[in-house]
Amino acid sequence: MKGVVLAGGTGSRLNPLTKVTNKHLLPVYDKPMVYYPIQTLVNAGIQEILLVTGGKNAGDFLRLLGNGRDFGLKHLNYTYQEGEGGIAEALGLAEDFADGNPVCVVLGDNIIEMNICRAVDAFRQQRRGAKILLKEVADAERFGVAEIRGDYVVGIEEKPRTPKSNFAVIGVYLYDTTVFEKIHRLKPSGRGELEITDVNNFYVQEGTLTYETLDGWWTDAGTFESLLRANHLVAKTGANKISEEADAAAAAVRKAGQ
Ligand code: DAU
Repeated sequence: MKGVVLAGGTGSRLNPLTKVTNKHLLPVYDKPMVYYPIQTLVNAGIQEILLVTGGKNAGDFLRLLGNGRDFGLKHLNYTYQEGEGGIAEALGLAEDFADGNPVCVVLGDNIIEMNICRAVDAFRQQRRGAKILLKEVADAERFGVAEIRGDYVVGIEEKPRTPKSNFAVIGVYLYDTTVFEKIHRLKPSGRGELEITDVNNFYVQEGTLTYETLDGWWTDAGTFESLLRANHLVAKTGANKISEEADAAAAAVRKAGQ
């Protein structure tokens, strides 16, 4: 499985903090924001990673991350998104990199307390379709929201006024190789973006979308409030923790060479 971190977009919701730098280079406690999603992938045993960036400061990512030595990586791949046509558009740029492999996608402003090893392992068994991760939140209207019936997600709404559940779809997605064909079929949403929620709904319609709930806290960091919250959470408890069990799962993934 290959990993993709999406760090494009202009971060306009954080103006003027993002006037002269990229949102994902801003500090979250003791590290730049983009360190956390990369660490999420590395902790799940994913070693081949593509970073999608954009905007005026793309070169700073190379200066900061180089070939990923801080994460124990041998190599890090980069690509550039012109403009901000949406999360699904940014993911579409990973098609050649994926090269027929499944992908684990992490949004560049999503930070988690624990790890995603269980979900990655389960998706390797699942083999086809997609898997999303859900977290119960008090402010579901800010996110993609899953409607759940029994064990199934029957639909996802992007930032609904009246959410059908409290389960936010977090910015970690596992996809089989058909994701790129699905992205080609997308039409821009009302806000002019190719929406990842529409991609996930294609999988719902196909009956191949599964979900897991995430252990530990999760936050995005794309608004002043959530950026402050992310700083507090990381300072208080630390992020990207791996248990012995997760470590074993990651080691198994590495050994399998996926
Ligand atoms: O944080 C989880 C939420 O992220 C999900 O619940 C939503 O379903 C999903 O649409 C997304 O919502 P946001 O509106 O918060 O996404 P935002 O536009 O802030 O973008 C999140 C990250 O995605 C951003 O940090 C970088 C990447 N991105 C975004 C856009 C619009 C790109 O790489 N390129 C883009 O064009």
